[in-house]
Amino acid sequence: MSKKRKMLIVIVSLLVLIQFIRPEKNTGIADTEKDITHSVTVSPEVKNILEKSCYDCHSNHTEYPWYANIQPVASWLANHVNEGKDELNFSEFDTFKLKRKIKKMKKVADEVKKDGMPLNSYLIIHKDAVLSEDQKNKLIKWAEESMLTLQDTLK
Ligand code: HEC
Repeated sequence: MSKKRKMLIVIVSLLVLIQFIRPEKNTGIADTEKDITHSVTVSPEVKNILEKSCYDCHSNHTEYPWYANIQPVASWLANHVNEGKDELNFSEFDTFKLKRKIKKMKKVADEVKKDGMPLNSYLIIHKDAVLSEDQKNKLIKWAEESMLTLQDTLK
């Protein structure tokens, strides 16, 4: 057998083998009695933007595309979801301490301002999650207003 053919067999076998790795899926319920709507006012419009562009990585429910079942995409996605949820989970926002809520709302405004979120790698395949200028402005305004409202309750 040629060296090339051996390499090919190794690569294909590995690809087949990793398909058996099945990361746990994030398929809970996003809207709970402790989600963000219990901490700050979220208009239906803002909620819609958050659900479309942020909830896949920042809530207890991810809408998985078909290719999410294929490795190594599945693991790559699972990592992003875990990391995103660790930093900020809108489904559990109401359980955060007041200071953390304020900090996170500021970060939301900052991230959207500098086009840091949603992650670029995600937008390549999720065109519907790309934020328009209008959506960006609405999110930033919402996050800043929410931050101020929360700050007022500190005093
Ligand atoms: C594809 C997954 C994904 C999507 C979609 C996504 N994020 Fe993130 N987000 C992450 C990951 C991963 C991190 C942590 C690592 C980092 O900061 O890059 C993060 C971090 C953040 C942080 C920083 C939290 C902190 O305290 O440092 C904020 C704020 C944030 N995201 C807001 C958003 C908003 C708002 C949206 C929607 C407009 C969004 N994200 C969409 C994956 C995502």
